[in-house]
Amino acid sequence: MTSTDDCLSQSLAPRADTDAWWRDAVIYQIYPRSFADANGDGIGDIRGIREHVDHLAALGVDAVWLSPFYPSPQVDAGYDVSDYFDLAPEYGSLEDLDALIADLHEAGIRVVIDMVPNHSSDQHEWFRAALEAAPGSSERDRYIFRHRDDGAPNNWGSLFGGPAWQPVEPLTGRSEDRDWYYLHLFAAEQPDFNWSNEDVHEHFRTFLRFWVERGVDGFRVDVAHGLVKAEGLPDDDLGPDRWNVIASQGEGGAADREKLPDVGPAFNQPGVHDIYREWRRVLDEVGTDILMVAEAWVPTEADAALYVRADEMSQAFNFPFLVAGWDAAELRRVIDVSLAEYGAVGAPATWVLSNHDVVRHASRLAYPADMDTDPGIGPKDPQPDAELGLARARAATLFMLGLPGSAYLYQGEELGLPEHTTMEDEARQDPLWERTNHLVPGRDGCRVPLPWTRGGASHGYNTTGRTWLPQPEGWGEHSPEAQEGREGSTLTLYRRAIALRRERRLGLGSVEWLQADPGVLLLRNGRTGVALNTTEHPVTIAGACELLITSWYPADRGGTGAVVLPPNGACWLEMPTGGPDGGDPR
Ligand code: NOJ
Ligand code: CA
Repeated sequence: MTSTDDCLSQSLAPRADTDAWWRDAVIYQIYPRSFADANGDGIGDIRGIREHVDHLAALGVDAVWLSPFYPSPQVDAGYDVSDYFDLAPEYGSLEDLDALIADLHEAGIRVVIDMVPNHSSDQHEWFRAALEAAPGSSERDRYIFRHRDDGAPNNWGSLFGGPAWQPVEPLTGRSEDRDWYYLHLFAAEQPDFNWSNEDVHEHFRTFLRFWVERGVDGFRVDVAHGLVKAEGLPDDDLGPDRWNVIASQGEGGAADREKLPDVGPAFNQPGVHDIYREWRRVLDEVGTDILMVAEAWVPTEADAALYVRADEMSQAFNFPFLVAGWDAAELRRVIDVSLAEYGAVGAPATWVLSNHDVVRHASRLAYPADMDTDPGIGPKDPQPDAELGLARARAATLFMLGLPGSAYLYQGEELGLPEHTTMEDEARQDPLWERTNHLVPGRDGCRVPLPWTRGGASHGYNTTGRTWLPQPEGWGEHSPEAQEGREGSTLTLYRRAIALRRERRLGLGSVEWLQADPGVLLLRNGRTGVALNTTEHPVTIAGACELLITSWYPADRGGTGAVVLPPNGACWLEMPTGGPDGGDPR
C-alpha cells in the first residue's frame, strides 16, 4: 500500500468521538502570567487563578486552556520550555496545579494545557547536553544541527526576525563546532526538535501520559504545522528578512503588515500527520475524549481540516475566521468553507477572535477590514476608535457564539478589554520587538495583566502594584467589579450569551443562511436567528421575531414589528422554523 492510500484509509476510519464534550465547548484561554498574581511579585500564578474560579464559573465556560506554565527562561513568555514535567517556580508547584485542576473540575470546568513540541528552551537538559556533545552525536540528533562551510545551511528566517540558524561555535567556543548551526524557527533560545529522532517521539508520548494522569482533559498543540520540515531543508521564498519583506509590501506602519499563513518548506509537511496519529493512539489508551487542538497557521480551511481527521486531532483553531475581520462576505465564506471542510472529516468547526498572539478584537475591529494589525500596534501607529471597536467586538462575539461548533475566548475579552496600543518601548518584552530591530511592536499589548477591581495599585491583579507589563490608563473601568450586575456591560453580555447558547444547544446546531442585505449576515441555527450588521447604517429585519439578546444596549427593537439592527450590531432572535424570513411568532 502506498503512503497516500494509507493516509486515505486512516482518514476514513469512523470517529470514536461523536459525543465528545469539546464538540460544542466554549473554551477560555488563561494566560497565567497576566491573569492574577496572588503573591504580589508582578507575575500571575496558579494561586491567582484559583482565586478567580468563581469568575470562570459565572461566565459559564466549559473549559479553560492554560498557556504554558512550565519551567522556562521566559524568552518567549513560556513557549520556551526547559522542563515539560513541572511548573515554573514563579507560577507555583505541581501541587498547586493539582489543586487548581480539582477546583476547576469541581466547578464543572475542564482543563486543557499547552503543549510545545516544535522546540524546547535552549536551557532544556537535552539541548545543554547537545551543546556539550560533539558534532554528529546522538545528543545533537535530537535537534536540527547542520554543517555548512559557506554560511547558514539555508535561507530560512526566524518568525521572530533575523535568520533561523544560530552558529554553534560562539556558544561552545570549540573549533570543532566551526560552521555548525542549529535551527530555530522562533528565537535562538528555542531550538527546533528533530522529529526524525525516536527520543523526541518517546518524550512527547510520555508527556501526554504524564499530564492525562494528572487530570488534564486536553492539549493545545503549539506550532502544530511546523514539527516536520521538508526533506533536505530547501530554501524558501521569504528569506531571512521576512519582516522587512512583509513590511515592504505596504506603505509601512502597522496597518500595512499582512498576517501571512506560514508557508514554505518549514511548514505543513505531510509527515506531521503521522505524529498526530501516534498521539491519538496514546490518548485513546489513557483516556476518553481527550481534546487535541491544533495551532496551525496554514493557508486554507482545507489544509487545517487535514489535522482533524478521525485518527488525528479533535479540533484546529479557525484562524481564517479571526483574520476575516469586519467583512461580512469573507466571514460568510469562512463559515461555509469551514463547516464543509471540517464536516467532511466529522470534526466540529471552531471559532476564535482573540488570543495572546494577535491584537485584541476590541481594538483590531476598529480598523478597516483591509488593514492588518499583525503583530501589535505601537504609539506611532494610527490609534483605534475605542467605542467603535467595542461595539464591533461585542457584535462579532455574539455572532460567533451563535455558530455551531466550539468557540475559543481569550482572557479579558469578556471585559471588552482593548489592546494596550501606547505601551512605551522600554516596557516591551516580546522577542519580536528586539529581533525585528523595532520594526514591529510585537504582542505585549494583548498580554497586559487583567484588571479585577476599579481601584487598587494594579486594579486587583495583585496588592503590590507590581506588574510584568504596564496597565494603561483607565484599566479599572473594565474590571469585573465595575461591570458586575450592570445591564448592558460586556461581562453581562458574555454571561448571557454563553448561557443562552448552552440552553439552545447552538453549538450542536447548523447554519441555514437567510436573505439579507450586503454587509449583513442573517442565519438560522435551529430556532434561533443570528444576525450581524457590519454596515454603518441601520438595517431592518422584516417580520422578525422576539429579540433574545442584543450586542447593543438598551436592547430596543428600533420600532414595532420588525427588528432594526443598528450599525455594528448583532442579535439573536426567536425564530420558529417555518417561513424563509423566520415568520412572525405572534
Ligand atoms: C505560537 C504561540 O502561540 C506563540 O505565542 C509562540 O511565540 C510561538 N508559537 C512559538 O512557540
Ligand atoms: Ca506571582
